Amino acid sequence: MKFFLDSANIDEIKEIADLGLLDGVTTNPSLIAKEKAQKNFEKTIKEICKIVKGPVSAEVISTDYDGMIKEALKLSKIDKNVVIKLPMTPNGIKATNYLYKKKIKVNVTLIFSVSQAIIAAKAGAAYVSPFVGRLDDISSSGLDLISDLSEVFMNYGFHTEILVASIRNPIHLTESAKLGADVATLPYSVIMQLFNHPLTDSGITKFLNDWNKK
Ligand code: G3P
Repeated sequence: MKFFLDSANIDEIKEIADLGLLDGVTTNPSLIAKEKAQKNFEKTIKEICKIVKGPVSAEVISTDYDGMIKEALKLSKIDKNVVIKLPMTPNGIKATNYLYKKKIKVNVTLIFSVSQAIIAAKAGAAYVSPFVGRLDDISSSGLDLISDLSEVFMNYGFHTEILVASIRNPIHLTESAKLGADVATLPYSVIMQLFNHPLTDSGITKFLNDWNKK
């Protein structure tokens, strides 16, 4: 399972890269805005690409087809690892198919149903991003969607990777792993939570206490 960091914060990206856990990065307009980097968007993506030797998703903000293509072509020139993130709309899907034919990788985002994921896969998306946390927020099950997508993508041998997004806790990650999801994009806080177990802490304390006994 690949770990992407869901962040545009350079310090967080460097820290997770230093741990040797970073396979890629995903950003979105909200994450870019959180870093106040809207005006330096391309520069920020370039900086992220210098740290990560893997896919870096950069999302377009246009909603019309021509605007999406214009932004996508510009972003794709930043680095060979840039993946264009497009929303799950008819224009987004049309743009996905255009970019697929140009061999530019696309991550179709804001996926909330199996039908949306099938459409994105058929258009040639390299990744689909189902948002598990936001489905849970509306009393639906995000993990049921991951289970359904794993089954359907397996049935047809789609090459599109399932990139689990909107992960809010370690259970979202471990259950997605059990279901065979290809990628998890994780906020920094959830990655750090993955390390924790009270028995690890008490075990270290006991080892050190025993060592220091006279
Ligand atoms: O990758 C998408 C993610 O950033 C959305 O997460 O927590 O805003 O639903 P969240």
